[in-house]
Amino acid sequence: MSVRLFSASINGIDAQLIEVEVDSTPGLHAFNIVGLPDKAVQESKERIASAIRSNGLIPPSAKHKKIIINLAPADIRKEGPAYDLPIAVGYLLETGQVKFNTEDKIFLGELSLNGAIKPVNGVLSAAILSKNLGLKEIFIPTANTGEASIVGDIKVFGVSTITELIEHLSGIRPLKPVKYKIPGPTVSKDDGEAFRLIKGQETAKHALMVAAAGGHNILMSGPPGSGKTLLAKALADLMPDLSFPEAIEVTRIYSSMGLVNGSSLMSERPFRSPHHTTSAPAMVGGGTNPKPGEISLSHRGILFLDELPEFPRHVLESLREPLEEGVITVSRAAGSIRLPAKFTLVGAMNPCPCGNYGEPRANCVCSPMNIIHYRKKISGPLLDRIDIQINVPRETATTTHEPMSVKKFNEIREKIASARAIQLARFKNSKIFTNAEISYRNIDKWCQLEPEAEKLLQSAVASKSLSFRAYHKIKKLSRTIADLESSELIKPQHVAEAISLKINEKLLGEGN
Ligand SMILES: Nc1ncnc2c1ncn2[C@@H]1O[C@H](COP(=O)(O)OP(=O)(O)O)[C@@H](O)[C@H]1O
Ligand SMILES: [Mg+2]
Repeated sequence: MSVRLFSASINGIDAQLIEVEVDSTPGLHAFNIVGLPDKAVQESKERIASAIRSNGLIPPSAKHKKIIINLAPADIRKEGPAYDLPIAVGYLLETGQVKFNTEDKIFLGELSLNGAIKPVNGVLSAAILSKNLGLKEIFIPTANTGEASIVGDIKVFGVSTITELIEHLSGIRPLKPVKYKIPGPTVSKDDGEAFRLIKGQETAKHALMVAAAGGHNILMSGPPGSGKTLLAKALADLMPDLSFPEAIEVTRIYSSMGLVNGSSLMSERPFRSPHHTTSAPAMVGGGTNPKPGEISLSHRGILFLDELPEFPRHVLESLREPLEEGVITVSRAAGSIRLPAKFTLVGAMNPCPCGNYGEPRANCVCSPMNIIHYRKKISGPLLDRIDIQINVPRETATTTHEPMSVKKFNEIREKIASARAIQLARFKNSKIFTNAEISYRNIDKWCQLEPEAEKLLQSAVASKSLSFRAYHKIKKLSRTIADLESSELIKPQHVAEAISLKINEKLLGEGN
């Protein structure tokens, strides 16, 4: 006789259905797992035996049986400890220690030696897959129920020990399915203190507002101490909360890394600021069992790269694909996987190695060659992909500025939120949420310029010999600027502002 039950494997952030077959024949005791298991799966034998024994059930070694476990499909590598639970349950079923219908259920969980069930990665994706396949019940570690319950239309059972699960399955002590708890009103991200306390820097603040409204990338160049890091962090205050579909995307990524931490839906936009010594796989994702990197962990949020030219060239160049496509393709021995990576890039850099180039009140000691070399670290194609490029000059500390009032700050947030709402309505039946994501194909459909505005843009293109990409970026930026004013048509003043945000002669000047 043999039994079959379902589990799931996680590849990148996507789940795939795995069948766990258990077959036994009388004979000398053996317990073998086949179907491309990795070391962690092989070792599950020991955990399962011990967990079953400590829960008062009969372990494999006490049965005079040759037991074989097959994990299908056989050509997918099975990694990690999440198969412990389905294998253990399959064994108990095969040896008649429990009886239930396996067809509509799926199991994931790691066992500890005493039978306790420990959390695993990727439960949200597994739950989405199970629901799509029409399965009715998912059995997972108690710590993972928050993320799985988001899915709905599938009963989520959190189990903390193997005994608890067996008692439920045999109807002795049924468990209650876990209901989705709507997260309480998000503790409003303070009152924007980081943003409000920035003195002066009106141009930069306005640029941040446009970036937050349309999801545009931004590069800030300025001398040390001018407040670039401060401004980048303040952008997080301006970003609106995640919409529900966005939150699901983000939660899936964090779930695949086991980073959801017991809560359910992640409602705040991610803010990641990896150091320039971060390795390429940690940045873009990868490894033998490919894991999302920083760029995917900042999906739908901010990726802040401070001291941009200090990042190794190959790391910066690998950002080009995700900046364009919103996904990263990671290659591995057994094919390649695609991971979502739609982030708002915020870069900060000094204008030259000493940092004083172009500052009226300071002397730059760098040679022109040095400056060229420094700026060349950020390639033209990468620069081309950054919508907003601004200078952040040093503000004099003596200037007295009142901090921005909470009322004024809330007005700005509301303006951004309404610009985002306009975009959500515009992109209702497409898969995008912001103007920054508009593809070249749809640019004319969604970014209609008044004839005068088009003329202005054309003359800028001619006089500055702009690339097609830059031309499109300016159109998208002017779309956002018009949305901030709730203007359906894009007018000349919107284009003029977009040009000033995108074209930075100082940055483009020498070197690029
Ligand atoms: N416009 C400003 N308003 C208030 N504080 C500022 C401003 N600019 C800089 N600072 C302060 O000066 C210090 C240096 O700023 P920082 O953002 O680290 O500069 P940078 O990243 O450009 O080198 C920080 O303590 C910051 O809080
Ligand atoms: Mg800094």
